[in-house]
Amino acid sequence: MGKVILIAHQKGGVGKSNTVVNLAVALATEKFNGDFNEILLIDADPQATTYRWNQRREENGSPSFPCIRLEGNISKQIKRESENYKWVIVDAAGRDSREMRSAMLSCDLMLMPTKASQADLELMEHMSETVNHARDYNENLNVNVFINMSPTNSQKEKLEARQLLQEYPEFSLMNSVIHERKAYRDSFADAVGVHEWNNSKAKAEFSCLLKEVMNFENV
Ligand SMILES: Nc1ncnc2c1ncn2[C@@H]1O[C@H](COP(=O)(O)OP(=O)(O)O)[C@@H](O)[C@H]1O
Ligand SMILES: [Mg+2]
Repeated sequence: MGKVILIAHQKGGVGKSNTVVNLAVALATEKFNGDFNEILLIDADPQATTYRWNQRREENGSPSFPCIRLEGNISKQIKRESENYKWVIVDAAGRDSREMRSAMLSCDLMLMPTKASQADLELMEHMSETVNHARDYNENLNVNVFINMSPTNSQKEKLEARQLLQEYPEFSLMNSVIHERKAYRDSFADAVGVHEWNNSKAKAEFSCLLKEVMNFENV
């Protein structure tokens, strides 16, 4: 059985797909010697951002991941697929989607990117309810939250956000922080991950995030 990592948040635009593709490339590069075939990407968002990114890689002749699209109640399908891969990374739709809720029932670890702004942090309350509800069915559901798109020129927002996030014992706050960097948008546009790009800071951030994910006891 492969490990299933779900990247989810009810809100769009927090960096779910950015995390999926960069974590997957980091994993393939650092742990599988550039072999992309051990990692299945599941795109469960009708926007298909991850799926199309991977398709562009195929068209470019770059190594691409096995990648499928799923919709609806995807819990059993995820479990089935995980038998054939070492890792499965799921990009769930935003909103309070059925895909997000059902994927929570069959993942080993959920990663939740959030921006550090007040408006975004207010959504934690609702995500906390959703996660607690999912734990009625998957009592081992572990949820790690990390800050994405943190400004590079100020520590204040990040520190305040970290303080607030500590008030949610149902989520583990990750040490890794992903900053707002043009490298993420530019590399995405070229259908590559930051491990294949020329910005060492972005690459280092995703190496840290990967390390924290790998150190997680269940993974
Ligand atoms: N750390 C970051 N720095 C700069 N741009 C980012 C970062 N994370 C995401 N983005 C950009 O923000 C937009 C939304 O990110 P995306 O991953 O598509 O969010 P979601 O999948 O949650 O809707 C995209 O244009 C993406 O390239
Ligand atoms: Mg997305």
